[in-house]
Amino acid sequence: MKKTVILLLLTVLISISAFAKQPDKKGILLVTFGSSYPETRVAFQNIEKEMAKAFPNIPIRWAYTSKIIRNKLRKRGENINSPAMALAQMAEDGFTHVAVQSLHIIPGLEYNALRQTVSAFNHMPKALKQITLGKPLLFSNEDNEKLAHAIKNIFADKLPQADAFVFMGHGSEHASNIYYAGFQYYLSQQSPKFMMGTVEGFPTLQNVMDKIEKNHVKSIWLTPFMSVAGDHARNDMAGDEDDSWKIILQKKNIEVKPILKGLAQYNSVVAIWIEHLKIAVDELQ
Ligand code: CO
Repeated sequence: MKKTVILLLLTVLISISAFAKQPDKKGILLVTFGSSYPETRVAFQNIEKEMAKAFPNIPIRWAYTSKIIRNKLRKRGENINSPAMALAQMAEDGFTHVAVQSLHIIPGLEYNALRQTVSAFNHMPKALKQITLGKPLLFSNEDNEKLAHAIKNIFADKLPQADAFVFMGHGSEHASNIYYAGFQYYLSQQSPKFMMGTVEGFPTLQNVMDKIEKNHVKSIWLTPFMSVAGDHARNDMAGDEDDSWKIILQKKNIEVKPILKGLAQYNSVVAIWIEHLKIAVDELQ
């Protein structure tokens, strides 16, 4: 009888001390809109490779914010969590501190929804001890300067081979759509050949075409101003349908040379996201 009581007490004591000594465990959660195009995998893999190099001791997980894309991937047997599901799973798996990194381009709708999710989880009992959030690619003046500079260097050898270099940004109905027009200014400081347009916002393709006409442009490079070369890049930008940018511009007798590479495939661009994640990781305590 006595033995049993002692054993029971011992078990209770051990479990209490085990709970008290549950070590802190840091994690990184990379969050992107997502893409169902297998071709975009190279971009995501490149980000992960660079992030793993920068944070060798912190496990990295992924979340996609697009439900449509998550559903599409699920049908192919690929399970990718939403940010909320990923954070809940990380809590379940023993993580205590998580730095979430937004892989969005501007602080638009997607980023602000992510901010709300992070804030909600920070107020949830028995979840994670602390969650911090890294800024998207473009946030500060410094980010804009760094990205414009990186872009100039990335395309330096291509620039002389065409009259203009056109970027296709996504565009947003959020007030931060102004980043696209703003970034045009930073790009112009690097080269007058750089032109920014968006699929769903301002500047429009028409704005770009007005500029092209004014500058008597005969040939252009055309590339996405998005993290990956997914659906928009392959269809809206470089597709063979009548309404793609490539076809519309070709009909104006302009030579179009598409580059199907996302920004996340260039390490000098990924470096800006890494800087933002460093701040978020440093904030963990
Ligand atoms: Co879209």
